[in-house]
Amino acid sequence: MKADVLLGLQWGDEGKGKIVDVLTPRYDVIARFQGGPNAGHTLEFDGIKHVLHTIPSGIFHPGKANVIGNGVVIDPAVLKKEIDGLKERGIDVRDNLYVSRKAHLILPTHRLLDAASEASKGKEKIGSTLKGIGPAYMDKTGRNGLRAGDIESPDFRQRYGNLVAKHREMLNQFEYAYDLAPLEKEWLSGIETLKGLKFIDSEYEINQMLDEGRSVLAEGAQGALLDIDFGSYPYVTSSNTITAATSSGLGLAPHRIGEVYGIFKAYCTRVGSGPFPTELSDETGDRLRKAGNEFGSTTGRPRRCGWLDLPALRYAIMLNGVTRLIMMKPDVLSGFESVLVCTHYMSGGRRTDRIPFDLGVPIDPVYETLPGWNLEEDVTAPLPEMLERYIAFLEKALGKPISIVSTGPDRRQTHIRDEALMPV
Ligand code: IMP
Repeated sequence: MKADVLLGLQWGDEGKGKIVDVLTPRYDVIARFQGGPNAGHTLEFDGIKHVLHTIPSGIFHPGKANVIGNGVVIDPAVLKKEIDGLKERGIDVRDNLYVSRKAHLILPTHRLLDAASEASKGKEKIGSTLKGIGPAYMDKTGRNGLRAGDIESPDFRQRYGNLVAKHREMLNQFEYAYDLAPLEKEWLSGIETLKGLKFIDSEYEINQMLDEGRSVLAEGAQGALLDIDFGSYPYVTSSNTITAATSSGLGLAPHRIGEVYGIFKAYCTRVGSGPFPTELSDETGDRLRKAGNEFGSTTGRPRRCGWLDLPALRYAIMLNGVTRLIMMKPDVLSGFESVLVCTHYMSGGRRTDRIPFDLGVPIDPVYETLPGWNLEEDVTAPLPEMLERYIAFLEKALGKPISIVSTGPDRRQTHIRDEALMPV
């Protein structure tokens, strides 16, 4: 058995949570492989909205195993809040949530370091979610980090204290006032909650489950254009967000990867700093933001909005080996007389399809204009003809089928166009 992967092809916020939730009935296991509480995966059903940060989006389906893989960074304080929130909705995660012992922990001082570093950068700031992601991955690669499995060790508090002391020294280099005590209290309470979860050596378990014929869906966070290697560095997140990260973040050899579902919005959004060739800093951008409710689910920040960028999407498809595409939110473009799509860029008077290494090089997007559509509220109605034309145009330009079209946040607002993906 091979594991399938579902990940974002843009700058995050494509709607991964909803689609994982829709696809979960087809799988036995849902596993997160990178990122941490910088993610905000939103799911809506039965009139209720849920936002998950660390817990895989299969958690609402009884009997499915949900794994937080070794590539994820966990903030116990955030995880506790997520678990408490789910408990209020009658879901006890202790039944079907598994945590890799090798997942690294985000300490409260990682969050402080993230905030201090961003504040010191002024206008050059990354626009981080301030969840401590960068500093936690720095400690991981710097070989100083603490892992979930370390909680079980008798000298855990000592090792925590040593790392905090190191972080305090680093914080002294910034002019940054902080009060660690309340953050630490919250974090230690999260550690107690974490202790009550099932710890596993997830690489063994997941490979064994595949050997036994059980199906696994690996759930990505952020998006390909925020990848630490291939995104617009340094305006990226601190993990690899592409399919390859499934191998390192879950312990799956490359030949064990099957389908790769790539999700994109019918337009583009980006939150935080960094280049965005098709950004609309005008009324059209405002209209997209309002219609699409484009405000961060983790930070509440307004998202930057723009037209769909095909060179960027092709790049993401190439990097991830996407086999099937999933398009989100064409309903947000409903009522637009025409819709623009960037087909290529002009740079220094020459046509290019490539994103330049040097972020300072100006690139001008070149657009094709397509007719707009009006989407009906009725979820059972066929997609409008002009939207079908948009889909056909994109399938041709991208060379991959668009297997699912999502026309709203609810589970029911999902048009499955591929026989192989019909509900089980
Ligand atoms: P960090 O991952 O919090 O360090 O943030 C680095 C950059 O990635 C910032 O521009 C964030 O806005 C962006 N980012 C991180 N996580 C997400 C996400 O889940 N959705 C969208 N943008 C994200």
